[in-house]
Amino acid sequence: MIVLGIESSCDETAAAVINNGKICSNIIASQIAVHSPYGGVVPEIASRKHMEAIYPVITEALNEADITLRQVEGIAVTCGPGLIGSLLIGLSTAKTLAFALDIPFVGVNHLEGHIAAAFLSGKIPEIPFIALVVSGGHTSIYLVKNFDEYQLIGQTRDDAAGEAFDKAAKLLNLGYPGGVVIDRLARNGNPRAVAFPRAMKDSLDFSFSGLKTSLLTMLKKRGCDFQDSELPDIVASYQEAIVDTLVEKTIRAAEENTVPRIVVCGGVAANSSLRERILRETAAKQIELFIPPTILCTDNAAMIAARGEMMLKNGLRSKLDLNAVSRWPLS
Ligand code: KG4
Ligand code: ZN
Repeated sequence: MIVLGIESSCDETAAAVINNGKICSNIIASQIAVHSPYGGVVPEIASRKHMEAIYPVITEALNEADITLRQVEGIAVTCGPGLIGSLLIGLSTAKTLAFALDIPFVGVNHLEGHIAAAFLSGKIPEIPFIALVVSGGHTSIYLVKNFDEYQLIGQTRDDAAGEAFDKAAKLLNLGYPGGVVIDRLARNGNPRAVAFPRAMKDSLDFSFSGLKTSLLTMLKKRGCDFQDSELPDIVASYQEAIVDTLVEKTIRAAEENTVPRIVVCGGVAANSSLRERILRETAAKQIELFIPPTILCTDNAAMIAARGEMMLKNGLRSKLDLNAVSRWPLS
């Protein structure tokens, strides 16, 4: 089935075409340059930029897939969770196209989309599996018994892991978004140079706000006067505290539930240290690991099309009065 996916929940305008689980095109227009002077996403600006980008991005996705709109058999669109103004641009576009072309469309949960990214490349995870969903707004561990059947087994009590990266980068004046900058800088640092705290060791829940505070306290003590040469050690140690926690709890979740399969997804799954560590530690414990290529970890529309195609093939259809939702927990 040829499915056009549309994603506009935050600061990427994205469109993709997939055909029976194979990616034909995956186009992403990032708004990073527009938001970076503000140190974060400005929702009003994001909506306007989505409006400008949505048709060019869809056109490019169709061109690259070498198809016309008339060949599209179904549309999948993110309808939550996310920024309402941003979501509405993608959703209204999807409804308009579905109505004009007289084809079905489905609203997709963005987090389900992140999980579905693991079904787009190579080996497909068997069900059940443990899913670590780590993005800018979410850090949760689910026992996935099926799409539509999620048992939440751990979640953050405060900041998401992506937020912890972004806030640290802001404190250190490294720019926005922080995860990718910290990832790059940390490669030249010593992850054991600074002893940052690991919170909630006995639980499968997470807490990252203490980590951020401990960085802030350290910077205040030093009067922010550290050498640039110390930065790699600081960010490598900070990143290590996040990676340690994510890896340790996800593996424990797999062991406690006797589910020897883990999916790691969401923007933070693009982190090179997290990828290396979870690969090494799952291999040592004979746990199968499914982690999408980095381009499918950060926001994209191929993952939305992937989940949408499953839904459409199961006969699911959304109606034209479908609304966008800012919060939409998986369980
Ligand atoms: O999934 P995503 O693209 O958007 C949301 O759904 O939130 O995740 C964005 C988050 C941001 O916090 C960003 O800093 C983080 O993912 N991120 C990374 C890396 N690339 C993106 N964090 C750590 N290392 C990376 N390489
Ligand atoms: Zn996301």
